Amino acid sequence: MSYAIIGFGSIGQALAKAFARSGIEVSVATTRDPESFASAAAAIGPEVIPKTLAEAVKADVVFLAVRFESHKDVAKALPSWQGKTIVDVTNAYGVSPEELGGQPSSKAVAQAFSGGRLVKGFNHLAAAVLEQDPAVHGGRRVVFLASDDDGAAAEIGALAENLGFAPIKLGGLSEGGLLVQARGNSWGQLIFKDLVKFD
Ligand SMILES: NC(=O)c1ccc[n+]([C@@H]2O[C@H](COP(=O)([O-])OP(=O)(O)OC[C@H]3O[C@@H](n4cnc5c(N)ncnc54)[C@H](OP(=O)(O)O)[C@@H]3O)[C@@H](O)[C@H]2O)c1
Repeated sequence: MSYAIIGFGSIGQALAKAFARSGIEVSVATTRDPESFASAAAAIGPEVIPKTLAEAVKADVVFLAVRFESHKDVAKALPSWQGKTIVDVTNAYGVSPEELGGQPSSKAVAQAFSGGRLVKGFNHLAAAVLEQDPAVHGGRRVVFLASDDDGAAAEIGALAENLGFAPIKLGGLSEGGLLVQARGNSWGQLIFKDLVKFD
């Protein structure tokens, strides 16, 4: 299984740190030449490989860590996302519900990445929290996952475990998934709730 993070700002780098900490290789890409962020990637660890966007989207699992407004541009990098899993880490805070046709933002993202399997997740914590070691007080930091595809949710759940987190599945994007999505100028009820699970 190969992994990529599209967007290497606050949240992209927080995710890259989790991959590096767990010794799992991950490609990272932005709109820029990979040379321009190679030193930032190297500072995180040798597991973090800067690539062009066109190369990075060849990964099996693609984390979408760009601003919500940029998701359509990333989606255009491939004619079809068939066979790929997209992890939507965006928060559409401030985007009007009318602009989204009244649907949850992750549904709009899923439509843009046609053919792909979409999992909403890793988006409910601030980057400064997500980047920390998820082993906390003898437990593991919780990440929430929502998807209309149970297989994709299971796949990303297994990855979250490998990254050291405790995944909690919330169900479909328009069901439990609403708890971790922004709508207009309000946040889902679980956003910013930094929870730890004890086994
Ligand atoms: N910051 C947080 O604490 C936090 C927490 C949870 C969720 N989120 C969500 O995560 C997403 C990213 O937030 P952020 O704070 O990390 O933003 P950011 O610091 O502005 O980083 C955005 C990254 O996306 C890249 N990018 C922009 N357009 C792109 C495109 N078309 N193709 C490829 N890369 C592109 C940017 O690089 P270039 O412009 O140089 O190409 C930059 O590396 C947002 O949707 C936000 O709501 C953020």
